[in-house]
Amino acid sequence: REDVERYKARIKALLKEKDACLVAHYYTDPIIQELAEETGGCVADSLEMARFGSVRPEKTLLVAGVRFMGETAKILSPEKRILMPTLEATCSLDIGCPAPEFTAFCDAHPDYEVVVYANTSAAVKARADWVVTSSIALDVVEHLADEGKKIIWAPDKHLGAYVQKETGIDMLMWDGACIVHEEFKAKGLLDLKQVYPDAAILVHPESPASVIELADAVGSTSQLIKAAAELPNRELIVATDRGIFYKMQQAAPDKVFIEAPTGGSGATCRSCAHCPWMALNGLENIVTALEEGRDEVLVDAALIDEARKPLQRMLDFSA
Ligand code: 13P
Ligand code: SF4
Repeated sequence: REDVERYKARIKALLKEKDACLVAHYYTDPIIQELAEETGGCVADSLEMARFGSVRPEKTLLVAGVRFMGETAKILSPEKRILMPTLEATCSLDIGCPAPEFTAFCDAHPDYEVVVYANTSAAVKARADWVVTSSIALDVVEHLADEGKKIIWAPDKHLGAYVQKETGIDMLMWDGACIVHEEFKAKGLLDLKQVYPDAAILVHPESPASVIELADAVGSTSQLIKAAAELPNRELIVATDRGIFYKMQQAAPDKVFIEAPTGGSGATCRSCAHCPWMALNGLENIVTALEEGRDEVLVDAALIDEARKPLQRMLDFSA
């Protein structure tokens, strides 16, 4: 704890010195979330991170999360310097949707409106008509269907299946998945419900349909935190990254949070309820990023121009 306090003090001084602001996702280490709160930065879901970063006065944003979040910040604020604790922090959805293949897929279906999840590269966003996050996916797809549009959805097949089921709208889908949420299992959840019969189940929609079916609340990270506070149940079983417990506990201090069971265990489970890329964010590499100006997120200017259109559409739609 002494070390932690020393790092925290150093980071606070560096943020001031470098005119920087810390923006952190709910899945990062609780200490990073605490630091973001204490320094006037923000802890948020991916949509709120994008919005918050774009209105901040500081010249530098330090984005603790995964790479697509840093790229989104750069696309929306090209004049700012965007640093990340490490550029190695990627996302299985981003990896599973390479721009050349995705572009070819879209080109083969020219009469479709292209909707991509925020968890994608700048190049994939540049090929899209719309970017969405899990908090507004349902609304955007319904809006497009009302306008009579046919829709390509990428890359998360589980979130896509959830959107299809909720809206009744058919979409042409890419075959990607989140390695963390895909691990949650309905059988384990049913067994856990036997132990905690009064518990409510909260599920992020990147989870498989069989898990979503058992949920009392489904939603983005922010929506799940809100549900944790609002649901009357004292015990809550949570099927998303365990980093979220920090904020859930703050939002509902009297409640008991229980991790939803996953398929693997011990050494076989690389991603059991904790994203291995979010876990790469630490106090040490935040210090290095600020001291040495690395790892800076750079996005090609032409890509920024193209990728900003669908991102701005999302922000305007959700305003
Ligand atoms: P949210 O938009 O719900 O924060 O989700 C981001 C993410 O990567 C979930 O795995
Ligand atoms: Fe990507 Fe899943 Fe990690 Fe979120 S939790 S960043 S979707 S791999």
